[in-house]
Amino acid sequence: MIQGHEKLLILDFGSQYTQLIARRTRELRVCAEIHPYNIGLEKIKEFAPRGIILSGGPANITDPDAPMAPKEIFDLGIPVLGICYGMQLMAHLLGGKVAKAQRREYGYSRMEIDDTSDLFHGLSGGQDVWMSHGDRLETAPPGFSGIGHTEGSTLAAMRHGERPFFGIQFHPEVAHTPNGAAMLENFLFRVCGFAGDWTMRSFVESSLETIRARVGDAGVLMALSGGVDSSVAARLISEAIGDKLTCIFVDNGLLRQGEAEKVMSMYAGHFHMKVIKVDASEMFLSRLAGVTDPQKKRKIIGPSFVEVFVKEAEKIPDVKFLAQGTLYPDVIESTHTKGPSAVIKTHHNLELGDMLHLDLIEPLRELFKDEVRAVGEELGLPKNVVWRHPFPGPGLAIRVLGEVTVERLEILRQADTIFLEELTKAGWYDKVWQAFCVLLPVKSVGVMGDERTYENTLAVRAVNSRDAMTADWAQLPYDLLGKISNRVVGEVRGINRVTYDITSKPPGTIEWE
Ligand code: XMP
Repeated sequence: MIQGHEKLLILDFGSQYTQLIARRTRELRVCAEIHPYNIGLEKIKEFAPRGIILSGGPANITDPDAPMAPKEIFDLGIPVLGICYGMQLMAHLLGGKVAKAQRREYGYSRMEIDDTSDLFHGLSGGQDVWMSHGDRLETAPPGFSGIGHTEGSTLAAMRHGERPFFGIQFHPEVAHTPNGAAMLENFLFRVCGFAGDWTMRSFVESSLETIRARVGDAGVLMALSGGVDSSVAARLISEAIGDKLTCIFVDNGLLRQGEAEKVMSMYAGHFHMKVIKVDASEMFLSRLAGVTDPQKKRKIIGPSFVEVFVKEAEKIPDVKFLAQGTLYPDVIESTHTKGPSAVIKTHHNLELGDMLHLDLIEPLRELFKDEVRAVGEELGLPKNVVWRHPFPGPGLAIRVLGEVTVERLEILRQADTIFLEELTKAGWYDKVWQAFCVLLPVKSVGVMGDERTYENTLAVRAVNSRDAMTADWAQLPYDLLGKISNRVVGEVRGINRVTYDITSKPPGTIEWE
């Protein structure tokens, strides 16, 4: 839980849009947290929110086992906004009548505003709103009246006459409701009275205090990968407790060119952090010898990492905590954005914590990726770290298709370096979600000068994505692709052909293995 700041509590009834409510709210500089609908009244009181939003959800309130919230939340003197299922729940708990609709109302609807005093302040007339619900509110609970209607429903939005309770049948958090953000803004500022002073600086300050209070004089251990999440978490903890944090950086021999050196010079050098570098490349590479199956590669790399880390960790005295860079989407149960990296990361770290009998510290577990980046900037991490593309745990092993050898890794590294260099120079690195090269186990014929060549093929991949669950291939300019191809074939011995991957996800995946 984020400490020391006024907060909005979002009770999650399982809507696919719940995370968006938190995002929109935080964009309005109000600190919001999502918790499961059944956390119980005591937890809610302890949380002491300035406002509560009941999210949408897939259930029907008319179902016998429909998820409920304690009715007492309406006795706490806290403003409540029910969205979609949340509105029906509010109506149900406060004595309104909800009936099963003949058919599900889904998609755009036109709502006429009937009252502009609070929630719809500054708005007027007809509004496009996005609906997605089965049940229908037939009679408002006592004390409530309609403040917006659609053709199909006289109660598309309702409010209590005196108390700060509002319900809306549509989703204000999605882009399909163009004035949805203004409605949320009205709820947060006009109804709840939030100050709107939540910034990443306030997050950093409250985190530093929380970390210091929790850790005391104990030692904290952390695996540093060079990725955004672990870098930001490590910087934050180091800012809080200095030398009591020890980072372990495992060089598995599967990193990109110069990466190990860069990580060491930044953290150990520039930030004066305690970083232990373990060179385990020989071990990883010898275990990978002869292995071509992608899942087998992962099954070797994951446990080998754990083995190396645990061995090193056991040498460090007085450690009580293991820190990790878990983010919000990894945490929330109803998440729809869990990519394989999140699952793998979480899995890894739980295992490490258990094996070492350490408690977990997860300072970023309340944050979305863009907020983590903002914290990174706040902590003075360089732009190229904060805006770094994701890089898979198994590293280049899953980008050298087929057997992973020192020679093939080296060929891939050289090509990848050229690709990223050109991409950055052309201003495209920051415009794509992830970009990398894959060395294919395919040889083809070419000519260079007067000579016939028979060499490797390289695939170049760049994709756009929001959350890695789906991705589109990036439409890089032809002249940039041409330049990359020329440079790679001209400069990297062992590659005589370059292809560009134009497969989206689905049906492809981002990585090739
Ligand atoms: P795919 O290939 O499944 O990748 O579309 C989605 C995202 O996850 C990354 N990825 C991994 N990350 N360990 C990781 O830590 C893995 O085994 C792994 N496999 C894929 C991939 O780079 C992309 O960002």
